[in-house]
Amino acid sequence: MTKRLGILTSGGDCPGLNAAIRGIGKAARGAFGMHLIGFLNGFRGLIHDQVTELDDRAFSGILTDGGTILGTSRDKPHRMPVNGKIQDMTEEAVATYHRHALDGLICLGGGGTQKNALRLKEVGLNILTLPKTIDNDIAMTDVSFGFDTAVGIATEAIDRLHSTATSHSRIIVVEVMGHRAGWLALEAGMAGGADVILIPEIPYKVERIAQAIQERARRGSRFSIVAVAEGAMSDSDAQQIAKVARQKKEAKNKADKEAASAKLQSFVDAHVGHTIQLTEELERVTGLESRLSILGHLQRGGTPSAADRVLATRLGTACAQYANDGRYGYLLALQNDQVRPVPLEEVAGNKKLVPVDHPMVQAARLVGTSFGD
Ligand code: F6P
Repeated sequence: MTKRLGILTSGGDCPGLNAAIRGIGKAARGAFGMHLIGFLNGFRGLIHDQVTELDDRAFSGILTDGGTILGTSRDKPHRMPVNGKIQDMTEEAVATYHRHALDGLICLGGGGTQKNALRLKEVGLNILTLPKTIDNDIAMTDVSFGFDTAVGIATEAIDRLHSTATSHSRIIVVEVMGHRAGWLALEAGMAGGADVILIPEIPYKVERIAQAIQERARRGSRFSIVAVAEGAMSDSDAQQIAKVARQKKEAKNKADKEAASAKLQSFVDAHVGHTIQLTEELERVTGLESRLSILGHLQRGGTPSAADRVLATRLGTACAQYANDGRYGYLLALQNDQVRPVPLEEVAGNKKLVPVDHPMVQAARLVGTSFGD
């Protein structure tokens, strides 16, 4: 009997999603003769049964396109806003899966998607996932597609900011994405020769950053580039957040846990825009004119790099192979240049952060880059 597969993309989009969909689709249909449908806008499409048939034409000409032909959202089946209320819509998601007589569902996404996918596995669905995110923070995979493209975009931006920083003898702070993990800031910062790199894993002190910049100025370089991940924070903010996170973990009842969660969220909300304050403080402390450039969603847009197209095609085709073999319950990860199945339980809820002594951090320090610590 013809096997039937569903595909959805969830979480923030990134370059390489369409290449992965194409890899799954071409292999599943062409090599294994499966029937494919796509759910629109992430898990929302699964819950509300919004589908599109995926025939050969759907996979043609999308290898180089950014975004996702299926649309995406950050919706979670177990916490869906419905008529102004948060509801558990897991049963509806399961019902749609069975209504379409699916043999399996493939979810392409980041950390949140891996958690949602595990929940669906736990209620009995056959699930496979692929790792996508420009943050590169998915556990158990060496790399996620989207990351290489984003590193390229952010590096080019830093290159361009260099010439204007030099001409004006300014500090330019460049904010790159990465709210929990600093991989993107680290790699783009290194590739672009940033003088200071600030990542969430290494809390900074403004005085230390200023010192590094003033030292450069004394040596004759009156400009500096500061590459900062959006989630980087000062050591005092980091201590406060760690305290509230601890309170949340140790909360004895639901009310305490909710209160700690609300406090944590307000910290996170207040942190948005912290690079504006950082830029102003650096100007005040160093006396050097400072400007801020926030790269934002530019880093998620446009055509995928060659490396991301290749990675997405490898993972996508491997995924079709696993589905054809009836092997479910895994993230297909890249480890030591091999595609490997990792049980979803080992991925969901874990984040791959930058180890503070990572060889890249050490190399950056050896070329004189400051981490503000
Ligand atoms: O998760 C990827 C990511 O790009 C983060 O780096 C960033 O904080 C977030 O998405 C932005 O998400 P949104 O598109 O929902 O604003």
